[in-house]
Amino acid sequence: MEGLLDFVLRDILTRVGGIDRCVSEFIRITDQLLPERVFTRIVPELHTGGRTLAGVPVRAQLLGSDPVCLAENAARLAGLGPAGIDLNFGCPAAVVNRHGGGAALLNAPETIHAIVSAVRRAVPAQMPVSAKMRLGYSDDSRAVECALAIAGGGADELVVHARTKAQAYKPPAYWERIADIRAVVHIPVVANGEIWTVDDAHRCREASGCDMLMIGRGAVVDPGLGLAIKADMAGVGQAGITWPQLVPLLADFWHIVCTRLDARSRAGRLKQWLNFLRRRFPEAQTAYQLLKTINDPALIDEWLAGVVRAWLVARLRSGLTPQPSSLLTPAPVVEAA
Ligand SMILES: Cc1cc2nc3c(=O)[nH]c(=O)nc-3n(C[C@H](O)[C@H](O)[C@H](O)COP(=O)(O)O)c2cc1C
Repeated sequence: MEGLLDFVLRDILTRVGGIDRCVSEFIRITDQLLPERVFTRIVPELHTGGRTLAGVPVRAQLLGSDPVCLAENAARLAGLGPAGIDLNFGCPAAVVNRHGGGAALLNAPETIHAIVSAVRRAVPAQMPVSAKMRLGYSDDSRAVECALAIAGGGADELVVHARTKAQAYKPPAYWERIADIRAVVHIPVVANGEIWTVDDAHRCREASGCDMLMIGRGAVVDPGLGLAIKADMAGVGQAGITWPQLVPLLADFWHIVCTRLDARSRAGRLKQWLNFLRRRFPEAQTAYQLLKTINDPALIDEWLAGVVRAWLVARLRSGLTPQPSSLLTPAPVVEAA
């Protein structure tokens, strides 16, 4: 997710478990063959076999409207070894749509078909090519046509964000429209949109008929959501992650942010995540309130050291040996956007 769920958060969230596959933020293709460094900057997992450090495969996402240029870039990207290539037919951003990319293509299923076919031909047969679409641009009347264009172009998998571009991010998501798509396309379909809880996942699976779900913001709000959904699907009771389990991950997140991002954006990144986490964890709400006006990384270091110290003391008191963030055992299909 552009500007939110980047390689840093992918690294952290996939350590928790419950996520089988990730898709990178989009890489925008206009009229140039991008240098390899652009792909590896956005998807550093290309340096580690196309997987996060926890071993979860990452597909690299391309966004554009020119089949030939997309195919040339896909071929170069494929040479870097991603776990697959995903195509974006859903981005609602005005700047992207103005140039005919993202959700704007939902008005042109023939171009979608040309893009998918060209990319499919350009990358090795064994490399998965998937696509992500919304239900339409202004309305959902061409949803099935677009899905057929994607499947007919040779995509291996289709993710459907069950809303139109016009519906933006406004709830609800129309999961039942995914069932209409599933009825006609003969490739695996993944349901996406408004899955925040195990109950949402349950209802989404029922309405869409999909076994595979993609969670976006829900995983940022609750990093244990994938684990919890899987435990529910397997009928093995409750799972998830608690605030004390999240503390070392927060510390790791901050550490990676400080080593990989420029000084000006560090505090903002932590606060951005806390802003999502506070919807689920009261402790994150307290932290957010405390830090919201702080931008000095040294002060954040100090705050985090206090949180980690309290976490260590609590663990020692309860007779548990403090461990780094590998607190959870990954369980066995949930994708993160
Ligand atoms: C900040 C933000 C950035 C996003 N960036 C992308 C992106 O780069 N590629 C993409 O396919 N979808 C992107 N999305 C859409 C999400 O992947 C997802 O389809 C949408 O948020 C609905 O799922 P959710 O309710 O689980 O979040 C983005 C969404 C948000 C909120």
